[in-house]
Amino acid sequence: MKFSLYQQAANDYSGDCLIVPVFSIPASSKATQSELFEQLDQASGGQLHNLLRQGDISSKPGQTTWLLSLAGVSHKLLLTGCGNSDEFDQRKFRQACQGAAQALRNSHARSALCALTDLAPCQAEPDWQLRMAALEFAHADYRYTHTKKPADDAAPSSDEVAFISSAPSAVLQQASAIAYGVDVARNLGDLPPNICHPVFLAEHAQELADAASEFATVEVEVLDVAAMQALNMNALLAVGQGSAVPPRLIAMHYRGSDSHAQPYVLVGKGITFDTGGISIKPGANMEQMKYDMCGAATVIGAFFAAVRLQLPLNISCVVAAAENMPDGRAYRPGDVITSMSGKTIEVLNTDAEGRMVLCDALTWSQRLKPAAMVDVATLTGACVVALGHHASAVMSKHDDLAAELLEAGQNSLDRCWQLPLWDEYQKQLDTKFADMKNVGGFPAGSITAGCFLSRFTEGQRWAHLDIAGAAWEWGKNEGSTGRPVRLLTQWLLDRSNAAAH
Ligand code: BES
Ligand code: MN
Ligand code: ZN
Repeated sequence: MKFSLYQQAANDYSGDCLIVPVFSIPASSKATQSELFEQLDQASGGQLHNLLRQGDISSKPGQTTWLLSLAGVSHKLLLTGCGNSDEFDQRKFRQACQGAAQALRNSHARSALCALTDLAPCQAEPDWQLRMAALEFAHADYRYTHTKKPADDAAPSSDEVAFISSAPSAVLQQASAIAYGVDVARNLGDLPPNICHPVFLAEHAQELADAASEFATVEVEVLDVAAMQALNMNALLAVGQGSAVPPRLIAMHYRGSDSHAQPYVLVGKGITFDTGGISIKPGANMEQMKYDMCGAATVIGAFFAAVRLQLPLNISCVVAAAENMPDGRAYRPGDVITSMSGKTIEVLNTDAEGRMVLCDALTWSQRLKPAAMVDVATLTGACVVALGHHASAVMSKHDDLAAELLEAGQNSLDRCWQLPLWDEYQKQLDTKFADMKNVGGFPAGSITAGCFLSRFTEGQRWAHLDIAGAAWEWGKNEGSTGRPVRLLTQWLLDRSNAAAH
């Protein structure tokens, strides 16, 4: 889907349809509608205001009404509810964009001119509005097609959306790069686990790097079992040893800054399927555990978005890829494993495998001398209990780093919420037989998982994002959300801007 800016009169637009914002009629005064709404109303002899007054056009945020042939107007109109103009904020703006984007995606219109990005009362800068709108149109456009082709009569994706906006066109290039990263992540997340396994992930990373070569050189390193054995990455290897497909550590490096500048390092949990291992999960919904590589998918997506943005930073992406299976060779409860760091771990539950693969990936990543390190993982069911599907959890001992991530989440509306990593929680990991056990018991399951990881990041500027609730949607729109690609890309953009000032 292509994006462009449109500067001429909407009347002259040569495409299929106009996306027109509609505000509710306040009880007291006359509704303040957008310029385009008023123009179209005049052209139609007052029809739009009539239809709105009669309730035939919805003004509820995100609700849409098609007017396919309004007298006096040559375009198809997609009227998009924005609610009360005095309550119109960033969230309502996004809701309106989502509604319009979905309606456009489900229609047969091939091109549209969007006037939502031309609204004064939104409490947001034109740049922010334009980026958000473009990202929502791209988001609605996504369809999984790898193992199911669209029906012959399925609505086609639109070719182009033009926006009325005072923001510069560079914002659209930015949005396209971010949308590409979100797409990469959603695709990987949605792929079935028989296709998307650790070796596939490594090959796919190389293909994405090749595809990015017109933007920048990306160096790809893949560590196989022998290479990981040589480094004593025994925790990662333990998780992978029950699977017929061997584990991989995948690292990618992009250098947008001086060779001596310390890199920002994103580390992803890439469990391509999580059966729980010997501590096997119940059968219900187990197929959802194909999404257990969404940490990997989203750090890969954010990384390639940053490459396409050609950010003036050094950035590395590290993925711990393994499949967690029960098997004669699988690791078992009671095993004590010596991690790459030398710290010993007693396995109490083989289903707490994410922290096992991540601890070695975090130890390995320290050789890159990171400016900051952020790991992303569908780590705990407890995180879904705590925050549901609306927020990722952020944990860090570095309040400034946590604040950066919280702010990037708020700005991109890919939000996260902080949980404490206080030392008081650490003792839940004590055991007689090793330096730590891999589970902290029932209370504060997300925090004790974070505490476990913190033991492998001593002296590092590090934060952990638990995306168990945010990474995919359940129910009728089931699928990978691509979160937190937007948050991570925003964070990296903010770091570039901070470096420039
Ligand atoms: N991948 C799961 C976490 C998960 C569960 C994500 C449900 C999304 C939805 C993780 O590997 C896991 O199994 N965690 C266990 C940890 C426990 C054994 C300490 C959990 O949350 O139950
Ligand atoms: Mn598990
Ligand atoms: Zn898992």
